[in-house]
Amino acid sequence: MFEDDTHKIAALAHAWRDKPALHQPHYEDEAELAAVMQRLAKMPPLVFAGECDRLRESIAAAQRGEAFVLMGGDCAESFEQITADRIRAKVRTLLQMSVILTYGASVPVVKIGRMAGQYSKPRSQATETIGDITLPSYLGDSINGHEFTAAARRHDPHRLEEAYLYSVATLNLMRAFTRGGFADLRSVHDWNRGFIANPAYVRYEKTASEIDRAMRFVTAAGVDGAQLAETQIYSSHEGLVLPFEEIMMRIDSRTHDPYLTSAHFLWIGERTRDVNGAHVEMFSHARNPIGVKLGPTTTPDTALALIDKLNPEGEPGRLTFITRMGAGRVEEALPPLVEAVQRDGRPVTWVSDPMHGNTIKASNGIKTRRLSDIMAEIRGFFAVHEALGSHPGGIHVELTGDDVTEVLGGSEEIFEETLTERYESLVDPRLNHQQSLELAYQLAEMLRDVHL
Ligand code: PEP
Ligand code: CO
Repeated sequence: MFEDDTHKIAALAHAWRDKPALHQPHYEDEAELAAVMQRLAKMPPLVFAGECDRLRESIAAAQRGEAFVLMGGDCAESFEQITADRIRAKVRTLLQMSVILTYGASVPVVKIGRMAGQYSKPRSQATETIGDITLPSYLGDSINGHEFTAAARRHDPHRLEEAYLYSVATLNLMRAFTRGGFADLRSVHDWNRGFIANPAYVRYEKTASEIDRAMRFVTAAGVDGAQLAETQIYSSHEGLVLPFEEIMMRIDSRTHDPYLTSAHFLWIGERTRDVNGAHVEMFSHARNPIGVKLGPTTTPDTALALIDKLNPEGEPGRLTFITRMGAGRVEEALPPLVEAVQRDGRPVTWVSDPMHGNTIKASNGIKTRRLSDIMAEIRGFFAVHEALGSHPGGIHVELTGDDVTEVLGGSEEIFEETLTERYESLVDPRLNHQQSLELAYQLAEMLRDVHL
């Protein structure tokens, strides 16, 4: 499938190797890194180019209002938490949300996990101080360990190899669950069972029973069982560590084009999206569908420069802008960007990340978010697109399938005092299983009112 042609990549690489690259690990031993890279170069790709092409087409459908993108998963995956139970819970949560959203939007939901490779983090502080000890910040399991010791916090290139292997294991199980019958839509009623005990359930019961009826109708009408039982969840992560992404860049033997084969979809973070930086340069050479996070300080000129660089030909589905403005700012910060893109004419798929503009510190100092702010940002995102006649293409959220207490609010309410009970995230607070379903039900109501 992919040509064993590192020369072609090496010829391209000079374009980004000379450019400024922010938020990179610093390895003490170049030879150690080189040895890891040599082994990774021989490893097979995680994804195939044809899958990336199909995802690009599905994202293009979302841009036209004919599909809706659901991206979700951990802020940072951790090696220790790669267990069958946790992966199953996350996959199940994404599938449940997707059923609810499909019902609301009456269009296919494109499912993308922040999974199977979300192992590196840009951090606002390079170091962390506890008491009188200062150590390098935790940058994600592919770079260093979370434990607050000098040994764990050392940037260790072997972790890139581990990240590759953990990504393989995760993606394998995601594929098994979605192809092997676990995803059977007819079992949606069972999936919903956990949510029935939620005090909010009465509010959503009507929708839930309508979905049930629709399922029974589809089954009774004799729709092919295999179609109901199989689906696809694509993989995605922030493309941050450039040596790793470069070594996973491979040439597709069908088209002779380069693809980033560490995931189907990669996005560039708010902190590394400099149009003259190494990340944007590298990604401009790959054929995958690409996302860029846009915060509230983004200017229309920056958005257009990113289009010039990442999607000069205006290929549908190629470029997604993932906006993370904050609930209070979305309605003023988003319209100038949408209008500039509309005037330009090249297609962009708009996805809302309602998490990263709404991070707060609880009075006890814990990093959290309010579910009400998250919903308010999504509502603002919908309102802007509705007003400007463009399509809200999807959402990008941090969630887990587990019963954690990291985000405030929800009908099984989590308060500041209860945040510490099961706060397991290594970086940002995630929606738990119940909060994720509640978000999906509310979003389904919004989608029903919108003419996608
Ligand atoms: C993230 O998605 O975890 C993240 C760091 O987001 P952003 O680049 O939008 O700050
Ligand atoms: Co995050």
